[in-house]
Amino acid sequence: MKGATWLIVSLALCWDSAWGNVVKVNLDDTLKYNHVGVEGDDTPKPDEDDWWKNAVFYQIYPRSFRDNDRDGDGDLKGVIEKLPYLKELGITGAWLSPIFKSPEADQGYDVSDYRSINERFGTMADLTELVKEAHKLGLKIILDFVPNHTSDQHDWFQKSVAGTDRYKDYYVWKDGKYNKTNGVRLPPNNWVSS
Ligand SMILES: *[C@@H]1O[C@H](CO)[C@@H](O)[C@H](O)[C@H]1NC(C)=O
Ligand SMILES: *[C@@H]1O[C@H](CO)[C@@H](O)[C@H](O)[C@H]1NC(C)=O
Repeated sequence: MKGATWLIVSLALCWDSAWGNVVKVNLDDTLKYNHVGVEGDDTPKPDEDDWWKNAVFYQIYPRSFRDNDRDGDGDLKGVIEKLPYLKELGITGAWLSPIFKSPEADQGYDVSDYRSINERFGTMADLTELVKEAHKLGLKIILDFVPNHTSDQHDWFQKSVAGTDRYKDYYVWKDGKYNKTNGVRLPPNNWVSS
C-alpha cells in the first residue's frame, strides 16, 4: 500500500507536463506485459512490485475526455465508452485526474470527500463499472489521490477549524502576521490555489 501511495503522489507531480498525454512510453515492455507468461520468460510481470516502472499510462482529464450523456461535461460513462479505443493504443492503464467530490476551486484537486464521486462525473456505480470493464480488457485504472491537502469544505477541515480535539492537528495551522502600520491581520503566507 505504501508503494501504491508513493506512485500516485509522484504521478500527481507529473501533472503539469502530462495534461491529457501519455506519461511514459516504453511500448516494447508493455507489449511484453500483455503476453501470457511462458516458461523461462523472465520479463517482469504486472503483478511484480515494480511493474509500473515501465508501464504506459494514459492520463485522462475526465471533464474534457468524453461526454457520454451530452450535458456538456465529460463523465465516467464516457471513459467506459472509450475503453476499447484505449486498449487499442496499447497502454497498460488509464490514470484519471481527480473524480472525487469537490467544490472545484482547484480543478478537483480540492477534494471535499475522498469516498464520494463528483456528480459531474457520475456515480460510484459508474466507477465500479469502469474498473470492471477495464479489467475485462486487461487495462488498469489509477485514481489520482491527493492526500497533501483537502478542500476547506472537507469534514476534517471543518472540524479542525472549529478546534475539535481529535481533528485540531490534522492540518498545519499558523497565525497570520499583523501589518505593523495599521494592525490589520495578514495571511500567514502568499500561497494561492492554482
Ligand atoms: C506533498 O507534500 C510533500 C511534503 O511537503 C511534498 O514533498 C510533495 O511534493 C507534495 N506532493 C504534492 C503532489 O503536492
Ligand atoms: C499595511 O498597511 C498599510 C497602511 O494601510 C498599507 O499601505 C500597506 O500596503 C499594508 N501592507 C500590506 C502588506 O498589506
